[in-house]
Amino acid sequence: MSARYRAVSWMPHKVRYDLVLGSLCVLFVAVFVGVSFVVNQPPNDISPPILILRALGTLAIVLLHVVLAIGPIARLWPRTTFLLANRRHLGVTLFLVAGLHALIVYGFYGGFGVQNPILAVLVRPDGGVGFEFLGFLALLILLMMAATSHDFWLAFLGHRVWKAMHMTVYVAYVLVIAHVVMGVLKDEKSLLYPALLAFGAVTLGALHLTAGIRERRRDATTPTTADDGWVDIGDASDIPDKRARVVCLGNGERVAIFRDGAALSALSNVCAHQGGPLGEGEIMDGCATCPWHGYQYETHNGQSPPPFTEKIPTYELRVRGGRVEVNPSANAPGTPTTPVTIPEGTNT
Ligand code: HEM
Ligand code: HEM
Ligand code: FES
Repeated sequence: MSARYRAVSWMPHKVRYDLVLGSLCVLFVAVFVGVSFVVNQPPNDISPPILILRALGTLAIVLLHVVLAIGPIARLWPRTTFLLANRRHLGVTLFLVAGLHALIVYGFYGGFGVQNPILAVLVRPDGGVGFEFLGFLALLILLMMAATSHDFWLAFLGHRVWKAMHMTVYVAYVLVIAHVVMGVLKDEKSLLYPALLAFGAVTLGALHLTAGIRERRRDATTPTTADDGWVDIGDASDIPDKRARVVCLGNGERVAIFRDGAALSALSNVCAHQGGPLGEGEIMDGCATCPWHGYQYETHNGQSPPPFTEKIPTYELRVRGGRVEVNPSANAPGTPTTPVTIPEGTNT
């Protein structure tokens, strides 16, 4: 583990973040219930438990959109990568809000125990299943993700299995949309709800598509190779200070070239923790910092600062005529390199 690893546990700023997030959720529910109360006067008034369960369902779907948008937003606008570190808490909050929504549904529609609440909600009088069942399946997926949210599970399951499990959140998204369309929108007269739902789905689709196309283009660009095999990665001045440029080498490996002031160093783009995209992070406390969980690596040797022991491969760099070139043969993890200096007079 690295120094930054501790940042994902219950540090004061995480507690503050969770308090703000919790307060915003309470505020959302209060405003939703208050406005609905004022708008729906007798004889069209709606009972408070129904208003609360609707408010929680709506908050859950809003949070689901935010969680799904963070990945592509961070890829498209690198300055927002700090959002990635908060996604886990947001995901667990989403599960808790959706769970509370379901619990009130079971209690309220199940007659608070008069009937078997699960049967009352999930099975229709004709024996078929309704839109609630789709919400139930979505909730199971969110439960699986929240239950395996501890770092132990990341390590135990391995990165690939864990990532595959994580991708089922998109199945949950489709189930939730179907849950709302089949359950609520069919009787909805106002166009506001369907319009908001369509806006959310189109925005998410556009963000994922744009980020995917950009990433594919970057990987498809074949960098120029010098006679001795070194790979041209572009103008030194194009790399923003404290950040990295990620280049895909011919062999499919990705290298992150970090710039700290006038010094450039190259590290593997694959974080030793769970394979996170190190080059999408930034230099903090003098170390390249992974955007996923904050593991850190010294830029000149790819080693986590003591007492941590993680190591990633390093690469040799050189600057020729203002262009940065990287030797595509990776050094063994943790091998020290000499950072190259951007020559004076280069436009930075
Ligand atoms: C066991 C799981 C679930 C059950 C039984 C369930 C049940 C229901 C029911 C009965 C309604 C209609 C409420 C009414 O208008 O009277 C509803 C609405 C809704 N549910 Fe669920 N749900 C579940 C899971 C979820 C999940 C996981 C989400 C989102 C992440 C969700 C989001 C919504 C939304 C957005 C509405 C519409 C709220 C509104 O009318 O303003 N539900 N749900
Ligand atoms: C109900 C809970 C959760 C939901 C809905 C959720 C949702 C998502 C989504 C949609 C991605 C997206 C992929 C991307 O665009 O990069 C993702 C990735 C990620 N989530 Fe969650 N998440 C949840 C819980 C957690 C938890 C508990 C953790 C903590 C371990 C976590 C950590 C991450 C990480 C590290 C990634 C990047 C993984 C990758 O792309 O390979 N999430 N999550
Ligand atoms: S810190 Fe977890 S993947 Fe990099």
